[in-house]
Amino acid sequence: MKPMKTISLLLSGAAVLATSATMAMAGGDFPPLAPLGEPPIPSDNPQTDAKVELGKILFWDPRLGGDASTACVTCHEPDQGWAFSDDLSRGYPGTVHWRNSQSVINSAYLGQLFWAGSAASLEKQAPSAAKGAVAGNGENDVMEARLAFIPEYRERFNDVFGTEWPLIGDAWRAIAAFERTLIVNDTPVDLYLAGDESALSEEQIAGMELFNGKAGCIQCHNGAQATDEKYYNLGVPTAERWQDDGLAQVTFRYEILAKGVTQEMYRELKEDPGLYFRTKEKADLGKFRTPPLRYTLYTAPYMHNGSFWDLEEVVEFYNAGGGSNDFTDGTMASSKTDLIKPLGLNEDEVENLVAFLEAFSGDELEVEAPKLPPYAPLD
Ligand code: HEC
Ligand code: HEC
Repeated sequence: MKPMKTISLLLSGAAVLATSATMAMAGGDFPPLAPLGEPPIPSDNPQTDAKVELGKILFWDPRLGGDASTACVTCHEPDQGWAFSDDLSRGYPGTVHWRNSQSVINSAYLGQLFWAGSAASLEKQAPSAAKGAVAGNGENDVMEARLAFIPEYRERFNDVFGTEWPLIGDAWRAIAAFERTLIVNDTPVDLYLAGDESALSEEQIAGMELFNGKAGCIQCHNGAQATDEKYYNLGVPTAERWQDDGLAQVTFRYEILAKGVTQEMYRELKEDPGLYFRTKEKADLGKFRTPPLRYTLYTAPYMHNGSFWDLEEVVEFYNAGGGSNDFTDGTMASSKTDLIKPLGLNEDEVENLVAFLEAFSGDELEVEAPKLPPYAPLD
């Protein structure tokens, strides 16, 4: 973490004020909220216009999947916040997903992708989505063969990557390059933090002070991305659909078995173990990555299992000190963070905080759907 002073110097007077309020009220040493800036571009996958255009077409193309029915865009719909507006995402035909679909807007800034952070880059995330049994369910050789039988792709892959035939790994690189253009970094919060004091209403400024102070949100939603990219169990309630939807239960059972849990857990688990899958430490049961807050106006429902349908419900959840689930009451784990406590916010304060959260979103990012190129037999 950079020293506070360096960061403060870059910010406007208004932001510095907010910063010192943060330090005083939340009593911790957290990076202040800051304008988002441009996303990092990895040196081994530089952006070019031709690569981004190719990645865009591939993002829409269901042939990068099992039965050519389910593209990235199927669960990351531009008019559903580039996510999917249901508690649990739709899944590959015949399945329902087991988690809430995340927005791909601004995923370019994240070092750890997915709710439990299991993918370290967009280049690694794309194949696990296209191949995952309840997402794309694709098979590498079949997907690669399909690309080879589409003359426009042969030409575009050759132009971008210099190979005679499209390689599946290059498809993921192109998709990652496209995702790095899905950026919203000019929200009212960004403008305000960059010095435009008129960008937030009085209500929103009051909400920001609560965010940085009494409500303690800054403890985890901090820095330019409004996330510390750490993992917590907040006691988000158990997904209702896991209790009463047979298809959702099938996916849940399949996922926990495939990701590896003990026999005892396999029989008893009713919650998503989250970070536990990666560490196999009981202390990590039910922990999820702090999500960024930009664009959330368009991405309801919220949380890894879509428990809350609007931002007010989320704020009320925090106001009550979070919730409880099987990993908070001690039967399997007591991993709930003690950073979450009842906040004692009154009705006006709840409204102000919601108004501030809304200012993290700005305008919707609209992109025209590309035309998918047709197959043609090889000569
Ligand atoms: C069947 C639905 C479905 C399909 C198809 C799908 N996704 Fe997703 N996506 C999800 C869900 C659900 C999550 C969260 C899953 C998790 O955390 O386990 C997610 C998470 C992500 C994330 C992580 C965002 C973050 O904040 O960490 C990215 C990036 C992403 N998807 C991109 C893609 C790309 C690229 C494709 C196509 C190759 C794709 N997705 C296909 C449903 C889908
Ligand atoms: C202890 C760290 C921590 C604190 C403090 C915290 N959050 Fe969160 N926040 C998280 C985590 C972790 C999640 C995801 C939890 C899950 O899915 O189980 C989350 C989820 C959210 C979401 C849903 C985002 C989405 O894409 O679904 C919103 C909105 C949110 N928090 C706002 C707030 C507000 C407002 C406050 C202050 C009242 C706050 N948070 C305090 C860690 C924190």
